[in-house]
Amino acid sequence: MSFKSFPKVELHTHLEGCAPPAFIRGLAREKKIDIGGIFDADGGYAFRDFDHFLKVYEAACTTLQTPEDFRRLTLAVLEETAANGVIYMETFVSPDFCGGGDLAAWRDYLAAIVDAADEAETKFGITLRGIVTGIRHFGPEACKPAARCAAETKGRFITGYGMAGGEMVGRPGDYAYSFDLAREAGLNLTCHAGEWGGPSMVRETIRDLGVSRIGHGIGAADDHALIDEIMEKDIVLEVCPGSNVVLKAVSGWPSHPIAKLRDAGVKVTVSTDDPPFFHTTMTKEFEMLQRTFGWEEDDFNALNRTAIAAAFCDEDTRERIGRQLE
Ligand code: HPA
Ligand code: ZN
Repeated sequence: MSFKSFPKVELHTHLEGCAPPAFIRGLAREKKIDIGGIFDADGGYAFRDFDHFLKVYEAACTTLQTPEDFRRLTLAVLEETAANGVIYMETFVSPDFCGGGDLAAWRDYLAAIVDAADEAETKFGITLRGIVTGIRHFGPEACKPAARCAAETKGRFITGYGMAGGEMVGRPGDYAYSFDLAREAGLNLTCHAGEWGGPSMVRETIRDLGVSRIGHGIGAADDHALIDEIMEKDIVLEVCPGSNVVLKAVSGWPSHPIAKLRDAGVKVTVSTDDPPFFHTTMTKEFEMLQRTFGWEEDDFNALNRTAIAAAFCDEDTRERIGRQLE
């Protein structure tokens, strides 16, 4: 079957990482910014491994300098995502990547993103919610201002706080201050863990940061006690198989543990992470899951139901999207 028009819910994308290479090239030309050799001969993003991916990602982000850049980016991303059948999407936004970390202007950047999201909802029928994100490899101190940005702008659009970036910097507990601050502000919590780190990183993220969702979490797949704990605590995994394959967190689609985790009873969802970087879309993710694991319509409906139940939006939005999935 063709999955393009199949309705979809995705919980794990990075707004800046959804920027098509042509969009970033256009901004770089317009603003005369030298972003170095971050593209391959075909014009796509080029990186060797995860650390290099993070450098290319940050170089691309240096072109996003004004609220208007984010308004245009958000609109372009939502048009493309909606064309792949996505009706509800959550995205990580990093104040550290808004105008090179212009935290004083965070509300202006956010207003531009919300403005574009509202326009896209009317035009393309997709609903977007935001999760403010600290960048882990910038260190525990640098994650605190992002948590304050999240707390100050919690509302209909900003519904959560999370942490992305290089996972192997410090231990999860080093970042507890930011997660505590966000929790006290009433935000939902998620954190990248078990993309590169093993079970201990996932276990400590749950224990020390009190998250209700884990970004990736595939490092838990071989630890039965941890799988039991994830199920007992009703934690949902935001799995991004295409991202894991391209970044070589797994050796290929056939060995991706998403099916194993799901079959063990873990609540899994599927997302694209940074679609143009990983040459993916939600349509392609569904197609590869069908081809690799033989998943069918019922399986994809179940993924959508798990995702909307775990979404960070308000209950009215959850019910509205839920009805569209029936
Ligand atoms: N992992 C961690 N941090 C990220 C990613 C990712 O896949 N994409 C953007 N920031
Ligand atoms: Zn991610």
